[in-house]
Amino acid sequence: MSDRRVLTGMRTTGPLHLGHYVGALKLWLEAQKDSDLECFFLLADLQALTTHADRPDLIRNSVREVVLDWIAVGLEYWKPNIHFVLQSQVPARALLSQLLSNVARWSEVQRNPTIQSELAHQGSPSAGFMIYTVDQAADIFMVSPVPKKGNRLLVPVGADQLPHLNDARDWARRFNRTYSEVFVPCEGQVGLVGRLVGTDGSSKMSKSLGNAIMLSDSPDVVTQKVMSMYTDPNRARKTDPGNPDTNPVFEYLRAFHPNQNQVMHWANMYRAGVLGGESIGDVQLKKELAATLNILLEPIRQRRKEAQELALGDIVEAGTIRTNEIAEEVTSRAMEAMHLGFPVNL
Ligand code: TRP
Repeated sequence: MSDRRVLTGMRTTGPLHLGHYVGALKLWLEAQKDSDLECFFLLADLQALTTHADRPDLIRNSVREVVLDWIAVGLEYWKPNIHFVLQSQVPARALLSQLLSNVARWSEVQRNPTIQSELAHQGSPSAGFMIYTVDQAADIFMVSPVPKKGNRLLVPVGADQLPHLNDARDWARRFNRTYSEVFVPCEGQVGLVGRLVGTDGSSKMSKSLGNAIMLSDSPDVVTQKVMSMYTDPNRARKTDPGNPDTNPVFEYLRAFHPNQNQVMHWANMYRAGVLGGESIGDVQLKKELAATLNILLEPIRQRRKEAQELALGDIVEAGTIRTNEIAEEVTSRAMEAMHLGFPVNL
């Protein structure tokens, strides 16, 4: 029997939004369907600390919010192959992180686009933030199967995480070459829809930018957020030609509407202004979008409400215990490969 595992995660800095859903969660829902895959979904509270060290209360509360959102979208926590894992409660992971930090080159870490843009925008990130991509490699490899034919380590993520995964794979290969074969190099998986723009159309959807539609938003809030979305500023009347390609309302319709032929027809009308005597206005498109999103979100809201009653702590504890078993074994193999075993023959 081969060991095929999935590890992926989210930082626990708040409840989740539609960007998390299209970018990552849809892939996770696909992955969990294969009962031969053992899936580890990581609640990255330590990684949250790299940007929110002054908000321990927020991180703690967000662990609950994220678990509720995961169950709400349909992650099947009750299945034996599905584990929710609290990152800070896996001590072996931290040791593995330190080992890997000596395999990763500082120049590689600095080259990462997320690190670069944070340095440019934020000025003085924490030291923990600067090495979080190395730490994330430890998240992944702590559940590495033994390297043999058929064993796989899959990482379904949003597109912005791909550079991290390429680095992680390089570090695993370098470790294997330098010491001995301990890790299965990870394989990233990304979905069709990459990152989702915010409702303001300016950048990626993010709760802190105030341009996010949360999975837990009520129908009224969703409608109100959609109706005030940014569209095409150069279109005064619905008979004016507009640009559907740079209009976030269309981006969302392309990501979520069940009838893509219909969306294409609207886009053609929008571009032309008048097409076959017909026109479509922003208000109508927004109403269509609000309805689409509320149909998508209704069962999610319902499951979220039911999940409030569950013993969430027990669910996370069970997944974390299983992860510790594997992480301890993998980390001792890595220690041994680096000749860091307990020195019985001193
Ligand atoms: N960096 C990821 C994010 O911001 C979260 C994450 C933490 C992760 N550990 C991981 C993703 C391991 C994939 C694998 O969304």
